[in-house]
Amino acid sequence: MGDYSGLKIPKHVSIIMDGNGRWAKALGKPRTYGHKVGAENLVQLVEDADEIGIKYLTVYAFSTENWNRPDMEVKTLMRLFRKYLKICYQKAMKNHSRIRLIGDFSKLDADLQEMIRVLEHDTKDFEGINFTIALNYGSRDEMLRGMKKMLADCKAGRISEDNLDEELFSSYLDTSDIPDPDLMIRTSGEERLSNWMMWQHAYSEFYFTDTAWPDFHKEELLEAVKAYTLRDRRYGKVSSGEEPNV
Ligand code: FPP
Repeated sequence: MGDYSGLKIPKHVSIIMDGNGRWAKALGKPRTYGHKVGAENLVQLVEDADEIGIKYLTVYAFSTENWNRPDMEVKTLMRLFRKYLKICYQKAMKNHSRIRLIGDFSKLDADLQEMIRVLEHDTKDFEGINFTIALNYGSRDEMLRGMKKMLADCKAGRISEDNLDEELFSSYLDTSDIPDPDLMIRTSGEERLSNWMMWQHAYSEFYFTDTAWPDFHKEELLEAVKAYTLRDRRYGKVSSGEEPNV
């Protein structure tokens, strides 16, 4: 166990794992090699996050826009997800992590959908780290799917529009039982949200690093947590003794 006294540990960290392709290219290897090493890195990082005391870790593995990549790359990624979900299952049985997936699974192959169902079901009572993987996820898509369900419930009289507030809307999102992220990390130099949990990140702190995902290890995660520790989260209010910024 490391000594993390002096650090404010965020309860929920989300990560955009970017830069696998560029990392591999720089080594003269195919992009898919970067994804493979990226997946291996993720296996270790979940354990590191758990050890640091992070309760929720959510990662962006495949976006609704990623289908536009070359066929071969999409196929390799799907193969990698199958393999990875099996590893996730074995790890969860050992360390009691609770696994969830978010996104629109209806476009995934049937066997992958079944793996997701079993993984979520068999880990639902576990009380270790809450690890969530976004697969075929897009924030706009999630909000539209949620809104359609909400409108159907409204029409059927199960809810009334008079009761619509932020909490009710949140309950229609894929993340309904997950708290909002405190810290969002994006690797590999890009500084965009890329359709990543736009509703949920309303008050999150953002941390960007040039390090590519396959090189983002525990020390880097601790750097991000150190930066987070120094942030002053005001949620639109002012700190005591400070004049408001206008
Ligand atoms: C971004 O790198 C990465 C992805 C689109 C896929 C993320 C997938 C992994 C880390 C693989 C493992 C994940 C799981 C859940 C098994 P990029 O290809 O956009 O890199 P680039 O910006 O350098 O092109």
